[in-house]
Amino acid sequence: MEKILDLISKEVSDAFEAAGYDRNLGKCGVSNRPDLCEYQCNGAMAGAKQYHKAPFMIADEVAEKLSGNEMFEKAESVKPGFLNLTVSREFVRSYIVKMLHEKRFGVNLPGHEPTIVLDYGGPNVAKPLHVGHLRSAVIGESLKRILRYTGNKVVGDVHLGDWGLQMGLIITELKLQKPDLPYFDESFTGSYPKEPPFTLSELETIYPLASGKSKEDEEYKAAALEATKKLQDGDRGYRALWHHILNVSVSDLKKNYKNLNVDFDLWWGESTVHDIIPGMVDYFKDNGYAHESQGALVIDVTREDDSKELPPCIVLKSDGAALYATTDLATIQKRMDEYHPDAIYYVADKRQTLHFTQVFRSAHKSKLVMPETDLQFVGFGTMNGSDGKPFKTRQGGVMRLESLISEIDEKMYGRIKEGNAAISDEEAKKTAHQVALAALKYGDLSNQPSKDYIFDIDKFTSFEGDTGPYLLYTIVRIKSILAKYEEQSGKKAKEARLAVSESDNEKALCLALAGFAEAVESAARELMPNRICAYIYGLSNAFNSFYHETRILAEEDEAKKESYIALLYNTLKVMETGIDLLGFDAPERM
Ligand code: ARG
Repeated sequence: MEKILDLISKEVSDAFEAAGYDRNLGKCGVSNRPDLCEYQCNGAMAGAKQYHKAPFMIADEVAEKLSGNEMFEKAESVKPGFLNLTVSREFVRSYIVKMLHEKRFGVNLPGHEPTIVLDYGGPNVAKPLHVGHLRSAVIGESLKRILRYTGNKVVGDVHLGDWGLQMGLIITELKLQKPDLPYFDESFTGSYPKEPPFTLSELETIYPLASGKSKEDEEYKAAALEATKKLQDGDRGYRALWHHILNVSVSDLKKNYKNLNVDFDLWWGESTVHDIIPGMVDYFKDNGYAHESQGALVIDVTREDDSKELPPCIVLKSDGAALYATTDLATIQKRMDEYHPDAIYYVADKRQTLHFTQVFRSAHKSKLVMPETDLQFVGFGTMNGSDGKPFKTRQGGVMRLESLISEIDEKMYGRIKEGNAAISDEEAKKTAHQVALAALKYGDLSNQPSKDYIFDIDKFTSFEGDTGPYLLYTIVRIKSILAKYEEQSGKKAKEARLAVSESDNEKALCLALAGFAEAVESAARELMPNRICAYIYGLSNAFNSFYHETRILAEEDEAKKESYIALLYNTLKVMETGIDLLGFDAPERM
């Protein structure tokens, strides 16, 4: 379906042409002076030089051609040469009726269904999820939903950090703490215990401990490197132990992601591609893509038009060990083999920009992917505390995601109980979590991904202003009016018919609805969920202005009341769709 702005531009372009001017001058935009008009065209200003004419004269002639046009209530030229446009109410009505009948509210699907692998989450086994992983999960989940909605097949992969030195560190520390475990006994040939030899919380204390020690103790670090190598070379006991670590950690991760409303299609990890690395490395060598440099195997990634040289991508270290980039390259190979994606997008901290540049260039250069395969990095900024520094706990430590969520849950629970004494504890708890997720996710997503932002719990949880809870509050308000309507009239809100709007607020709400497809398509194109946030926030405001100035259920004219209900019903549907694309949902009441 055509966008409303395109329809308007087309009409104005026709008028430019009919008046003897270049039709390209007829491009319109949403007005930045809503007090004067709804849409605006600056084409006469742009064309003045070309036609050696005062812009006002051109605008006048075009306005003349538009007079009597049914699309416009008003099309007037104003000095020095703008065209101010106000669309007709019938045009708005028929446009949104058509749009509301479409399955995706006017979002256009591509002719074929591109496949996109989306790499997000990126947690590391045996390290607790911290707020740094929050952004990847929240932005990635929203992008997955947006890309699916706009007609792509999306495969979400968590890309688990489950290989490498971190595992060696954990094994080394376990060996020190529990040397008698059979996993460390080289002569053990029996079957290993089914139960893991540690609890989750033990496991979670082991990593920071081991990592701290390795920074101070050379010998310890050497042991960890040795253990890593032994694990990767396939030592039976180490592999068995590694499976335990993986299982305990992954079931906890799954629980945490579920709590965040985030889910993945694939749980591939760095270890998944371990076995294909040697073949890939040979391929790089045999085809001259990689060469030796100071003992390491590297791929040069600097291009002619680069202003400065980039460090090469290191495929193997001088001791033959694979690195972060190596597993990423092998993962690309596996993804291409199994999914043949048209694109792979990565959602990770923007401080990894160089890493991804090296990996993408290496993948293209070595033809692991086609030239047209789109590899993109969605690098996000840091979540800061109110002091402008990376967010920490009050004690100054790294905040665990779980604690952060339960803190917000509690805050919301208190507020909901306070405002609603009759609500059961159970419902209050469930609602509190829904509102908390909206607060947390919207607080993040409403910023452009690449920007740092300040995590301000009081602001994010407020029921007023540009926040998640405000959107939910608006939705709940609409739901309650619709429920009352259905109860009072015995009719279905869904079946209410939309009439031509009368008040300006009503028309403004209709125009806000009409912008849905543009917002969603641009969010998908730019990989920016914040576009949808801005859209729904605007829609909520338009709804609330309408609501405050309109007696809806008390309206006596039945046709008018029905039309209001139709408008509310559809605003609700569009808002619910919008927040679903952001990754949260609304309660029945709050
Ligand atoms: N595990 C990594 C980290 O915690 C993020 C992984 C991002 N994805 C990737 N394919 N490298 O920093």
